[in-house]
Amino acid sequence: MGASILRLFFHDCFVNGCDGSILLDDTATFTGEKNAFPNQNSARGFEVIDTIKSRVEAACNATVSCADILALAARDGVNLLGGPTWTVQLGRRDATTASQSAANSNLPGPGSSLSTLISLFAAQGLSAQEMTALSGAHTIGQAQCKNFRAHIYNDTDINPSFAALRKRNCSASGGDTNLAPLDVQTPNRFENAYYQSLVAQKGLLHSDQELFNGGSQDALVRRYSTNTALFSSDFAQAMVKMGSISPLTGTSGEIRLNCRKGCDGSILLDDTATFTGGEQNAGPNKNSVRGFGVTDTIKTSVEAACKATVSCADILALAARDGVNLLGGPTWTVQLSRRDATTANQSAANNNLPGPGSSLSTLISLFAAQGLSAQEMTALSGGHTIGQAQCKNFRAHIYNDTDINPSFAALRKRNCPASGGDTNLAPLDVQTPNRFENAYYQNLVAQKGLLHSDQELFNGGSQDVLVRRYSTNAALFSSYFAQAMVKMGSISPLTGTSGEIRLNCGKVNG
Ligand code: HEM
Repeated sequence: MGASILRLFFHDCFVNGCDGSILLDDTATFTGEKNAFPNQNSARGFEVIDTIKSRVEAACNATVSCADILALAARDGVNLLGGPTWTVQLGRRDATTASQSAANSNLPGPGSSLSTLISLFAAQGLSAQEMTALSGAHTIGQAQCKNFRAHIYNDTDINPSFAALRKRNCSASGGDTNLAPLDVQTPNRFENAYYQSLVAQKGLLHSDQELFNGGSQDALVRRYSTNTALFSSDFAQAMVKMGSISPLTGTSGEIRLNCRKGCDGSILLDDTATFTGGEQNAGPNKNSVRGFGVTDTIKTSVEAACKATVSCADILALAARDGVNLLGGPTWTVQLSRRDATTANQSAANNNLPGPGSSLSTLISLFAAQGLSAQEMTALSGGHTIGQAQCKNFRAHIYNDTDINPSFAALRKRNCPASGGDTNLAPLDVQTPNRFENAYYQNLVAQKGLLHSDQELFNGGSQDVLVRRYSTNAALFSSYFAQAMVKMGSISPLTGTSGEIRLNCGKVNG
């Protein structure tokens, strides 16, 4: 297992840096590196990293990246098999994506020539000497017949009795996945035997034997073959250097909570510890009740991090929650996995949404049509403890209604004339329009509701008692509001294969 983990680390680092990208599972919408040619049915040891990760998370949440865990496990695997140890530089963050094509092009194959090996390592900033030292990793572990068949059957730079030995379990055709040790002498000990095998023309892979085949690395292979200490120290140094290939640091990437999942909308949007980019924009901006620009900004950041995975509907549900919370209101767990509609309905919007002139009975029946009780309607109306309304929406109430405090009506008339100024704004909560608490209900009790529909909740009808209770009990209101938001958020979600994950919230996909 030490061998498999060591190879995972190598294959992680050579593909856009040591960022844990190799650990990401493929999903319906995401193709990662696990099925790239060099890894498919070959890379092993993922469960070991999972086990370590779950213990680390239990002890210390959202702190140690999968990339760092892989770097440490690779070192300790080598050391437990008798090899050197070294100090692993830490602080890598995890990629939120992966690249199958980079895995296919950056990783050397078993048929590589010496010049290919040198240039693939050079592309990662590693010298030929470092390449030769790192190849000493093949002093442990196994390879599949299909990866060494050509070498044992066709090549001439191979010891004939060694070739014959390997042919026994790797026939000219068939048995592709049969394993043989990369180091014929001591496959479970980490020392310099690999180089001794190369000098004896007993390298298993064509690429192995290339290091000792009359080329530039022959002299170094000979030195390593007789000097274990030199190999150990060069290997350790080269591992540190390989481990520093393009790490993600600072605010790049994330600390993945599950090493296999990068595309998890809840990680991206829920927690400030792991994601700040979209989270900071998640709340409606203090002076705006519109916010389409805000959801667009979040969506763009989310798409960049994790393509075609988090719906606009989920983003809106999360942003609505976080906006309330950032303004001092409660928080709640948003159920996720909504998908986006591929169509919209103007007439349903006109019919279903209550207007500012609605009576209490209209409000109750419009909410009932969505499965929400009168009590839930009254709690949700507390949303008007923040935000603004336009003059045209409250003119009739301040000029014509009698259930309104006269000095409050006079105050509002100042910026909302009997005609004109239709779009002039006034706060829905006269006391604290930028704080989410129960002041809205106190206003209603004082007949200072801005909209006719607001004041309907406290106008001698069925909701008066509840309005009074909310007006004196902020905690009660917070908890009912949160519950009702979760319930409202579960109205007819599109799930499974219904709808789509829209890429641009303003447009259905192509
Ligand atoms: C020099 C270019 C390299 C090539 C062409 C190469 C290629 C391969 C191939 C084809 C296998 C067998 C995979 C299979 O048959 O399933 C293998 C196994 C392995 N490689 Fe490399 N490799 C290279 C460098 C490295 C480096 C730099 C490391 C680590 C520092 C490494 C670590 C390993 C280990 C430990 C195994 C055994 C894995 C196991 O038993 O699960 N290799 N390599």
